[in-house]
Amino acid sequence: MATTELNTDRAAAQLLGEALREVGYSERRVSDLLGDDAYEGGREEAPVGERRLPRTPLAAVVRLLFLQLPTPARDVVEALGRRGVDSLEATGLAEVGADVVPHVRVLPVGNLLVASDDFPDEDHDRRPDYVAAYTPTSRLLDSLTPRRRVARALDVGTGSGVQALLSARHARHVVATDVNQHALDYAELNAALNGFDNIECRRGSLFEPAGDETFDLITCNAPYVVSPESKWAYRDAGFQADEVSERVVRGAVEHLADDGFATLLISWLAHDEDEPDERPLAWTDGIGCDSWILPIWGEDPLGHAATWNDHLTGQGGRFAAALDTWTEYLARLGVRWVTEGAVVLHRRPGRNFSARVDEVDEDDLDDASDQIQRAFASRMRLAELRRRSDLLGCRLKVAAPVVLEHELEPRRGRTTVVTAAFELDEGTHSRVEASPRALELVAALDGTATLAERVQAAARRLGLGDAETSRLRREVLDVSTELLELGVVDFS
Ligand SMILES: C[S@@+](CC[C@H](N)C(=O)[O-])C[C@H]1O[C@@H](n2cnc3c(N)ncnc32)[C@H](O)[C@@H]1O
Repeated sequence: MATTELNTDRAAAQLLGEALREVGYSERRVSDLLGDDAYEGGREEAPVGERRLPRTPLAAVVRLLFLQLPTPARDVVEALGRRGVDSLEATGLAEVGADVVPHVRVLPVGNLLVASDDFPDEDHDRRPDYVAAYTPTSRLLDSLTPRRRVARALDVGTGSGVQALLSARHARHVVATDVNQHALDYAELNAALNGFDNIECRRGSLFEPAGDETFDLITCNAPYVVSPESKWAYRDAGFQADEVSERVVRGAVEHLADDGFATLLISWLAHDEDEPDERPLAWTDGIGCDSWILPIWGEDPLGHAATWNDHLTGQGGRFAAALDTWTEYLARLGVRWVTEGAVVLHRRPGRNFSARVDEVDEDDLDDASDQIQRAFASRMRLAELRRRSDLLGCRLKVAAPVVLEHELEPRRGRTTVVTAAFELDEGTHSRVEASPRALELVAALDGTATLAERVQAAARRLGLGDAETSRLRREVLDVSTELLELGVVDFS
């Protein structure tokens, strides 16, 4: 599909957005028409989708902007009105003749509309300044972003502007930056398409366009792929090794306002696969923020090279040549392991800043906004305790839906609980194992009694002696601290 240059006609984009919303063009309605896996298909599956569509105005829009198929102009006029069709042409999103021919895709993301270059899986056709709509990494960053009301947000490497759009719903003002003018054109158009007038686009590298301003929320889905190439702006930042990631972390720290959060999708290298997270731990040490390092994918150099050159499979020797070039590059850097994941930072007053590392499973990640806010609020409270045992004097409560698992075994003719685990039923779906009696105690926390009182009551009920009561107290302290830091349990 040919791409033409965009025209950032905000008035036309706004009008088009209104027409698209009026006809009901949303993620839910697309899934209703094309099925739940509609978003997973590529261009090659468009003929299947096309055949599922009824003859309705909404279906004409889905055909044109989701499946990216030329659509009779009279159908598009019926769906969007003459002014809607003129707006498609005025913005450069489509060419209008007897058929309307799409130049770009407009993807509904929830209730947002995101225009971008083409289907996301046509790797070899991508132009160097290619802009994607909402990729799996966009979703990860979105899910890990605290969504509370803030005054100022910054989105670095905004691409289509999707993170800026998401932040614009709960921030008074959003600054969106990119080195790529083509991306900023999309961000500008997408802001108007969604009726936002609080997004300001600025061109420049990383935090340079932010000057010395500070922000309450910083998001960055960095072009973090460690590669010897500089082929695509969204993938290759053009820095050596994992330098772009270090710069993103340090830049975020510099631009974070008091009580501000930053969610950064980055990558990091390790010379020792048994110590994969040393570098982000070093980057976040002594920075005046609590940090949460969330490794999502980890691979050895060959695995990393294969993942990021997947689009070359089946293209003769090109795949093999890319594997050699990439692994030689990583070998020269002495790399044994590559991790891609998120770093969440919270700037706060006080001291005793801490870092946590918890692996996250991409397939098990839901919206973690509330969890992250609870987790960092609890870490601030924990940092204020003079001694760890002071937690025993606190009232805690279970803060979110959890699943309490028991593993049972028959022992001496009775069924006995041998292990127990708590699993958060939202956000990162974190899982914590502990003794069954400690977890049963924690599961009953409702903020009405202190931890010490709960332990005493449990000890009386179970008839425990002093040594066993002390053990239970230690277990409860350990598991409560862990669950507070994970945002599963809360101070009441
Ligand atoms: C992985 S994409 C993320 C796009 C979007 N924010 C998202 O979440 O889907 C990375 C973006 O960073 C931009 N970029 C590359 N190098 C950059 C730099 N030095 N400074 C700022 N942005 C850069 C690319 O143009 C691209 O839009």
